[in-house]
Amino acid sequence: MTIFNELNLLPDDPILGLIDLYLRDERADKIDLGVGIYKDAGGNAPVMAAVKRAEAWLLASQKTKAYTPTEGAPGFTEALSTLVFGTPTGQWATEGVQTPGGTGAVRLAAEFARRAGVRNVLIGTPTWAIHQSIFASASVATPGYDHLDVQGAFNLQALLAGMSDLKPGEMVLLQASCHNPTGIDPTLEQWRAILAQVQAQGLVPVFDLAYQGFGDGLVEDAEAVRLFAAQLPLVLVAVSCSKNFGLYRERTGALFIAGSNAPRMAVIKSHLVDLARCIWSMPPAHGAEVVSLILHSVELTSIWRDEVGAMRQRIVMLRAALIEALHRQGVDAFTQLPLQRGMFSNLGCATSLVEALRKEHAVYAVGSGRLNVSGLSMANVDVVAQALRDALRA
Ligand SMILES: Cc1ncc(COP(=O)(O)O)c(C=O)c1O
Repeated sequence: MTIFNELNLLPDDPILGLIDLYLRDERADKIDLGVGIYKDAGGNAPVMAAVKRAEAWLLASQKTKAYTPTEGAPGFTEALSTLVFGTPTGQWATEGVQTPGGTGAVRLAAEFARRAGVRNVLIGTPTWAIHQSIFASASVATPGYDHLDVQGAFNLQALLAGMSDLKPGEMVLLQASCHNPTGIDPTLEQWRAILAQVQAQGLVPVFDLAYQGFGDGLVEDAEAVRLFAAQLPLVLVAVSCSKNFGLYRERTGALFIAGSNAPRMAVIKSHLVDLARCIWSMPPAHGAEVVSLILHSVELTSIWRDEVGAMRQRIVMLRAALIEALHRQGVDAFTQLPLQRGMFSNLGCATSLVEALRKEHAVYAVGSGRLNVSGLSMANVDVVAQALRDALRA
């Protein structure tokens, strides 16, 4: 078994390592802005009320634990498709395959890319920590471009230049909204420019939609996906229900294909189902049944929409509070904060500042200063602003 001797011990995942450090930190005033889950004012990630109601109904009525079909729990992808794409008008349609979370959906897209002979998927940096590794694990190369320009705005020119190196049929990964980790998304006008070049070059966009509802609204956050889906022969969309349904550990998501060529879509879907069958075989049922129940019930959908709306408003309020607190502390850095949307704000600072925040002030952030805005509260926002001021001056 010499082959195994050639493997080296891998470093810990940096975010999981940070969670561990936070849990072991004995300072009573520690503040966790690191981990990427939505937290309420009490610092908890509670089960949403609509989810609790759906779960109660499921518990009382469920008659079997027999397998979920490989393509997904009955009604799940149909209902989620309407949430993501709206009701398609015109010549296009969607097909979906349920996946274990958004991660499973991105992985399925990567496996599909490999099977279809796609060599490159263009991915902006920085991005969600494992985007590149997922595609690399499927032997798909991940050329990059800088997601932000020197002013901290979305770098349209870099994306267009990166795309111009791709061949027809190659892929570009696009975070649909609430970009992780920067919080900076293209404007609608920029999305149109991206779409025009995707069309001109015959590229295939792979959208990652993990925060629908956390930015400007459930419809607004899916605007780019809908725009592209209505215009292109093929779009892939990896959807996560982890954040907006608070279903993290239930591993709930889907990979959708949208397009105008129905026979081709049926062929592609058959490959997605075949790939899924060979990786996880059947998806986990619970989260998908919960989502399906919520989205098929007018009453539960209304409760859920209100909950997502309240989460979004709280994020918007806390980001504004942080900006004001930084002004009060006389900090004039981080001018990009007002442009950011969604659960994350990125300071774009040196890792030494992030270290200083943790070591000297017990404030936990990730990478180049990614803050989970929902981890802030009206009680700690001034403490965080002061910590940032002191760490900048040190
Ligand atoms: C951009 C992005 N895509 C996908 C995911 C995957 O989410 P899930 O937990 O549903 O696998 C995340 C999770 O943090 C994310 O930030």
